[in-house]
Amino acid sequence: MDFFSSESLDSLNKIYRINLINSITGYKSANLLGTVSKKGVENLAVFSSVTHLGSNPALLSFFVRPNVVPRNTYKNIKEKRFFTVNHISKEKIDDAHHTSAKYDENISEFDKTSFQSEYKNNWKAPFVKDSAVQLGCKYLNEYYLKENGCSMIIASIELIFIRKGLLQNDGWVELTKGNVVTVNGLDAYALPKTIKRFKYARPK
Ligand SMILES: Cc1cc2nc3c(=O)[nH]c(=O)nc-3n(C[C@H](O)[C@H](O)[C@H](O)COP(=O)(O)O)c2cc1C
Repeated sequence: MDFFSSESLDSLNKIYRINLINSITGYKSANLLGTVSKKGVENLAVFSSVTHLGSNPALLSFFVRPNVVPRNTYKNIKEKRFFTVNHISKEKIDDAHHTSAKYDENISEFDKTSFQSEYKNNWKAPFVKDSAVQLGCKYLNEYYLKENGCSMIIASIELIFIRKGLLQNDGWVELTKGNVVTVNGLDAYALPKTIKRFKYARPK
């Protein structure tokens, strides 16, 4: 097996280390976070750290990197409190990845990609039109991580839109039917295939 110890990590080239550490924990969700600034400029950025945090209340979290460079998504969420989470489909990975480019706050990624913004239910943040799953979220709190300068953002899930055909009778959303992708590391997108669903596991 290939082996690394924490000492050997320190001697690795920066990009190699980023790729290694970002991929070893497994496949991650791939989402586009839609926000708007107080000046009214829309913003869209890809995030792979969105995770549900509990279903009752319906919460999610994601991590923002240290504030050493402008972080438009974070700034917009702090200013407006509202944002959207939108799933990425196979057909859209080029544009989705491009939203990670560092655009100035006055430039909207919606203008630099084929994504179109969509407003509905009076939500004060843009959804990504035609995304298979769209969530309207409200900022609740954040925790600064002194270990690495990142912040964990906690938000409530207030609106849920699911493309017809994905929602199953028991509430489970079959993402594969929407060609929803996952991320392996920071730059490789994969299309998962459901193998099997299980009943609630009980001790034998
Ligand atoms: C696949 C992928 C996943 C990413 N996930 C995160 C993340 O979870 N948190 C984060 O702060 N940045 C993440 N980024 C980086 C942001 O997309 C990037 O910093 C972007 O420029 C942020 O845009 P903004 O300044 O408009 O918020 C990710 C980038 C890629 C390519």
